[in-house]
Amino acid sequence: MLKLVIIGGGNVAQHLAQAFANARDVALLQVYSRSAVPPGTFPAGVEQIHDLNDLTDADLYIVAVSDNAIADVIKSLPFSGRLVAHTSGMTPLEIEGSNYNAVFYPLQTFSKGREIDYSAIPVCIEASERLHLQILRIAATAISANIHYTNHGQRSALHAAAVFVNNFVNHMYVLGDEICRDNNLPFDILKPLITETAAKVQELMPADAQTGPAKRNDTNTIQAHLAFLQSDELKEIYSQLTKSIQKHVKEL
Ligand SMILES: NC(=O)c1ccc[n+]([C@@H]2O[C@H](COP(=O)([O-])OP(=O)(O)OC[C@H]3O[C@@H](n4cnc5c(N)ncnc54)[C@H](OP(=O)(O)O)[C@@H]3O)[C@@H](O)[C@H]2O)c1
Repeated sequence: MLKLVIIGGGNVAQHLAQAFANARDVALLQVYSRSAVPPGTFPAGVEQIHDLNDLTDADLYIVAVSDNAIADVIKSLPFSGRLVAHTSGMTPLEIEGSNYNAVFYPLQTFSKGREIDYSAIPVCIEASERLHLQILRIAATAISANIHYTNHGQRSALHAAAVFVNNFVNHMYVLGDEICRDNNLPFDILKPLITETAAKVQELMPADAQTGPAKRNDTNTIQAHLAFLQSDELKEIYSQLTKSIQKHVKEL
């Protein structure tokens, strides 16, 4: 049984704790969080600590704290020679001034309180030693069937791509919601369109799934939209994305 400790109290720490608490082959011994968390945040039966000096012996420590804090937290660990992995998409494998070189990056968007099917989440693992990779693989396999061996370049590329397909797309929802509200329409009207757009790319390549006035080069409609939009910010975003779609359509 692999002995695991999670360090962090945020979105990823909470989701990983939930996933590992239900996993066979892994015993989640402790969760460290800097601040106290409300009761029920972490699974029952898992010891919660708030002092790094109280960390117990484990085969793997997963550090799920803000990117800016990873190096400081890892350097503050009161032991050496154990396997410590961070969960960041962009932070390098090698942490300057530290001997701990491992990554356990779950490629998913995590928000507190949202239920997720962990078994489908791609988990990217990296380590400089073969034995460490084997331990990371045991941990990853305990919660997911979708494991990938990456390097820092590949992980950075995945993280950048994820910002486009997740964070930027969600921001488009925010802007779409604003346009609806300004015109006394509920955002709910757009939900079937959002669902179908996400479903289509499960079967079609994204370029093949593209539709809309930019793809068709319907210049009258594009000009009408630009005239309709009130804010300079929305006009600018609309124009840039239209140009990007048209450039990609030409290159096909
Ligand atoms: N959210 C995602 O969708 C996602 C997906 C994949 C990977 N990741 C990565 O996972 C990591 C954690 O992200 P998250 O979304 O869980 O962040 P989060 O919800 O903002 O939580 C960050 C946690 O880090 C703790 N922290 C910050 N500075 C600390 C310090 N100096 N010492 C101890 N704890 C400290 C915070 O503690 P306090 O509450 O006390 O401030 C908080 O518990 C990041 O590396 C992120 O890039 C995130």
